[in-house]
Parts: sequence; structure tokens; C-alpha cells
Amino acid sequence: MKAYDTPDQRNLLDQMKQGVIGQPLDRPEGALKVSGTAPYAAEHRVPDCAEGVLVLASIGKGKVTAIDTDAAMKMPGVLAVIDDKALLRRPAQGTAGKAPVQGPATVDYFGQPVAIVVAETFEQARAAAIALRVDYEEAGDATFDVDKAEYEPNEKPTESGDLEAAMQSATYSIDVEYTTPGHVSAAMEPHASIAVWEGNDLTLYGSFQMLSYNVKELADALGIAPRHVRLVSPYVGGGFGSKLGISHDAVAAAIAARRLGRPVRVVLTRQQVFQTITRRSETRQRVRLAADIQGRLTGLGHEAWVSNLPSEDFAEPVTQATEFLYAGENRRLAVEIARINRMTAGSVRAPGEAVGMQVLEAAMDELAEKTGIDPVELRKRNLPAEVPGDGTPYSSRKLSEALEAGAAAFGWKHRKARPCQTREGDWWIGMGMASAARVNMLVEAEARVTLKTNGEVVVETDQTDIGTGSYAILGQIAAEMLGVAITRTTVRLGDSDLPAGAGSGGSFGAISTGSAVFRACETIRKRLAAKAGIEEEQLILKDGFIYAASDSVPKDVRSLLDGEDLTETGGIKPGKTSKEYSQASYGAFFAEVAVNAFTGETRIRRMLGAFGFGRVLNAKTARSQCMGGMVWGIGSALTEELQFDPRNGRLVNHDLAEYHVPVNLDVPAIDVILLEERDAASSPIQAKGVGELGICGAAGSIANAIYNACGARVRHFPLTLDKVLQQLPDPIATVP
Ligand code: MOS
Repeated sequence: MKAYDTPDQRNLLDQMKQGVIGQPLDRPEGALKVSGTAPYAAEHRVPDCAEGVLVLASIGKGKVTAIDTDAAMKMPGVLAVIDDKALLRRPAQGTAGKAPVQGPATVDYFGQPVAIVVAETFEQARAAAIALRVDYEEAGDATFDVDKAEYEPNEKPTESGDLEAAMQSATYSIDVEYTTPGHVSAAMEPHASIAVWEGNDLTLYGSFQMLSYNVKELADALGIAPRHVRLVSPYVGGGFGSKLGISHDAVAAAIAARRLGRPVRVVLTRQQVFQTITRRSETRQRVRLAADIQGRLTGLGHEAWVSNLPSEDFAEPVTQATEFLYAGENRRLAVEIARINRMTAGSVRAPGEAVGMQVLEAAMDELAEKTGIDPVELRKRNLPAEVPGDGTPYSSRKLSEALEAGAAAFGWKHRKARPCQTREGDWWIGMGMASAARVNMLVEAEARVTLKTNGEVVVETDQTDIGTGSYAILGQIAAEMLGVAITRTTVRLGDSDLPAGAGSGGSFGAISTGSAVFRACETIRKRLAAKAGIEEEQLILKDGFIYAASDSVPKDVRSLLDGEDLTETGGIKPGKTSKEYSQASYGAFFAEVAVNAFTGETRIRRMLGAFGFGRVLNAKTARSQCMGGMVWGIGSALTEELQFDPRNGRLVNHDLAEYHVPVNLDVPAIDVILLEERDAASSPIQAKGVGELGICGAAGSIANAIYNACGARVRHFPLTLDKVLQQLPDPIATVP
């Protein structure tokens, strides 16, 4: 597997002739999904399957002292009550191979699974799980309140120059504190597993983002070798971080199935998903901006306070994009973490930038107002030529273009600079904007491509499609490279027996696994060129025909195959290009809101995002990713908030009725502008990540629009009407 050490400047995909790359093609599995025939994790047909239901801890910290299994075993249909130490592990997130992070039978958060009840039917298992008596010894030293928690540095802060001095000598300065609440991934499909053992070999149907990692995690949890574990996850109803690692359903189903000698299915209820699966940490963020008279940043401070369970590695990387986005030679960027007894904090929908950018961009709006510079112009003035502090060059950056294209298309010039200028009936109207930025990552990936004797192409990798479009874009890359119609291309995904793709996470799936497919196709092209006696540079493949650029007699590709399939595996892993360039996807958000002058209720009237993320592999799936991200931004700005009981750390709003994600009526017309770009430093297919870009700053544009509408600068997300109301001007006296 070749590391990506030098940018591949050949830009081969643009020279291909099939013309399928970038096209807004439908997802090939779309019809299966909308007709209900694509099997999700719990829907695979497995005969003789018993049903398991998890039992969750009802204390926030302590120990299980006894479980009354005898009484439960007497209930109808109950087959087993299992309180296995392995069940008590936390959902893994890249922790494979490490020792368990806790001792036996300890409870670290309210809702942690402590047992599984297995019965003939789900209803029987649920009844026994509800009736199961578990005794606990509560610990006296739990921490449930982040305001009382102690914080310590997560890593060494990024520091250069003298921020304090820059703040003091600045013409304009901003020093503000914002908070963002905890979030949940809120994937539509709950976590579910069906475990089937054959001898020592486990097949587990589940819902996962990263199969090759998940195999290792599950093997590790079960104490068996990874080669004995096969995961099958062809369709995934969203993950958004919550399925990066395995969760308790997988471990519990596997243990129970092994114990009973028959298949076991475990499906988490919606409430259990909320209570046991990773959360996004709440954050407190201090932003300091020091600017000269022209609004040029001389100092930039971004410090964040986040939380996680004891001994967990992950800390929400709040300042990730602040590291490279704006100028300001005097800097201090830092994340501190507190250990608290809430469920594991992990990656949720653009970890870091989602909440970091929304706060940074709201603070930039405060600076724009103070300096009297237009918010779009302020950002353009502060785009550094290279990464401040270390001088790393940018691989590509369409931020300036996104700001301009977005402003023009949105009609930004009609925005009034001061708040409370536009009133329509009971509503204040305003506009806001924000930059978008999300780091770009290439990760290790492999894929196998076969050109079959009948001229069809098959792409195979364990890459998942979590609703993002992997099936579509991997087929497009192969079809383009091998010159076949997309209808003659089949993509097989989501089975750990296939070559290990990148998985779906960190917006890296398309570029990483896409590059592996690209490289496999390149090798096939070389072999075809050799067979046909054509110089590689002369080789043209189109519609199943092969010919040389200088030659006008196309030959059917099948005639070269001599009755044998051509199969090649391609791979990629990150190399020097990942270190030598600052790589990120960029964009700009524009929002228009109406704020009710009497109630403080916000309605978003329209939103627009303009984005540059390298090559657009499929204009339809990319656009959908961007729109989805902006919908997340609406949630982050206005509605989403995990609420914990300060007495025991229990998550109170643990379902989609009480945890509010935006629904159709909350989402206005959303426009997306895709700015074509080529980035050879990112990947040989010149693409960058787009999956999470649409949320990274989106909520900031809404907060800024609310301020522009009505003058309410609320620094505690979400910006619910009760908070906006407190800052509203007199609704009658102030009508302009
Ligand atoms: Mo993503 S939150 O890295 O799945």
C-alpha cells in the first residue's frame, strides 16, 4: 500500500472520457431504501433468533453488588440473564487493543449497561429486564455538574507571541465567553446487532461506520482473534459519530449468543441509544480577538473547557479549525478537560469544528460590529497567506471565493449594518453570515476492483455507506477510470470480509476509499494497455471500448480479457502530503431569520452555503451532504441540547420528543453552491472531505442573523426564545 507522499498532479480523472465523475447521479441503493427492502441491522433474517434487552444502571457512579437473576429466570420465555464484566465496557472509539478502561462491575454513568436479559420474544425480554432487581452501592465522589468540575489541560496549548499584550494594544478587542450544550448524534437507525456463531466464528449483523476497526474492537471485547469476527453492515441508517466504535448491543449479543448456542438479537430502544451511546461534550469557550484599526487580527485566543469520563482519551477538539483559519500572530489556543460522570463523550457530527466554529464565527461578528467593517470583508481581510505560527502552506482554499459567491447569490448587500432596522408585522428580520472550515483527512484504505469478462465492473471494500453516497461515488470513480457505463458497475460494501476501506468518519471516507478504488483501476488500466499494445498515455477507455488517442479503431474491451476477469486491489495511506500542507474544506454560510418581536421565537427564512472541497465526485450527494450539515446547524443554533439531572447525571431528555432536532417545518429553503476545485495534495482524486463541512460554522450564521434582526446577542446555545426574549427591545416603541 503506497503512502501518499507527493501530490499526484497528473489529475487523471479529468482526462478520462466516460464523463460520469461529478455527475449528480442517484444513489444506486436508493430504491431499496425507500421501498423498505434494504435490510438494516435488526432486519437481517436469521432463523431461531432469541431477543436480548439491555438493563441500564440506575445510579450515576458506584458498583453493582447483586443481580437477582433467579426471579427473572422464572418469568415467561426468559432464557438467560447475563451480567458479564465485558458488558460494562464503554462503547469503544479507537480503543481496540487497550486494556479495559475500568475495573469489574463498576458503574461510571447513569444508564451504563449492567446486564442483558434474553428471551424467546422481545416483549418477554423487556418485561424481565424491567423487573430485574439490581442492587448497587453508590459512590460518594461522583461529579455530575460541569460547573463544579476541575479542569486540566488536554494537550499543550498552541501559544505564540503575547496575546495579553496584543489585547491591550489593540484598537478593537473582543473578549467573550460562549457556551454550547451537549449533543447526541441522533441517527435514525438505532444501534442493533444480531450475533450468529458457527463454532468459533462469529458473524454479527450490525450498524457500524468503520468495519475494520469495529472487528478489532469486538474481538478485543470478546477475547478472541479478529480473524474469527465477521461484521456485516451493508446499509446504515446514519451514524454521525455514534457508530464509529462498537456499542454494547454488539458485545452483549455476541456474549449471549455464545452462551445460549443460538443467534441473539439486541436492538437498543431510542431511550437506550440516548443513554448509552457517545455524546458530544458541552463546551465553554472564551474567544479573544485583538484587531488593528483596519480590522486586521493581531491576536487570537480560543480556549475551551470540555468534559469526558475518567480515563477516556477523547476531548472535543474545539479549536481545530481556529489553528489555521485566521490571522493573528499572537495566539493562545487551548482545550481543558474535566472528568465527569456522564456517558462517554465522543465524536458527534464534525467533532471540534461544529461547536468551535459556531462560537468563533459569532465572536467574529461581534468584532465586525465593533470595527464597523462588513462581516464578509472582515473575514477576507484576515485570511493568512500561510498557517500562522508554523508557516505551513494551504493545499487549496476556496474561502474567499465562497464568501464572494455566497454573498452575491444571497443578496448580502441588502443587509442593514445595524440591528432592528427591518420589521415585518410582529417579526424582526435580519441577516447573518459565517465562514465554514473543516479539516481534511486522508486515512488508510483498500479496495478491490474487478473488470469481468462480460465487461461489467465490480468494486468491493468494507467501506460503509451511512447515507452519504459511498455506493454512488465509488461506482462513479471506477466507471470513469475503466470507461464503462455506471449501469454496468456494481459496488459491494459493508462486509468485513472485503478489503478494508477507510470507513465512514471524519469526512474521510470518499477521498480515502475513493483513492483506493482509483489506484486499483489505475493498475487495471496499465494491464489493459499492455494487453492492447497501447502506450499508457495514449489509452482511452469509453463505453466498454479501448483505443489509443491516435488510433480511430476502438476494440471491445472484452476481446482482450481471454475469458478471465481482471482483478486488482488498490490502496492508499497517508504520507508526507498530510504533514506538508494544511488541508481543509472551506465555505461560507448566509442566513436570514425572522425573530418574533413579542415572543423571541426565531424562524429561519432562508439559508445559503457556498462550499469548496476539491473535486465534486457527485453533485447530488455532495449537495445533500451540505444541506444536511446546515440542518444540523439549525439544530445546534436553535433547538438541540442534552439536559442532565444534576443529582445523578441522568440524561433527562432521552428521546426525539424531548431532544429537538429540526424537522421539516423548521427547515427553510436551503441553497447550496458547489465551487469546483482540484486539490492534488489531499488525494490522487483531487477531492477533499465534504460530509461534515455543512455544520462547521452554520449555527454562527444564524446567531449573527438573530443579532442583526433584533439586537439580541445570546452567548449560550441553543438560542431558544426564553433567552432571546430577555434581550428584545420594546416591541411596540421600537417599530422602525
Ligand atoms: Mo464523524 S462525527 O467523525 O462520524
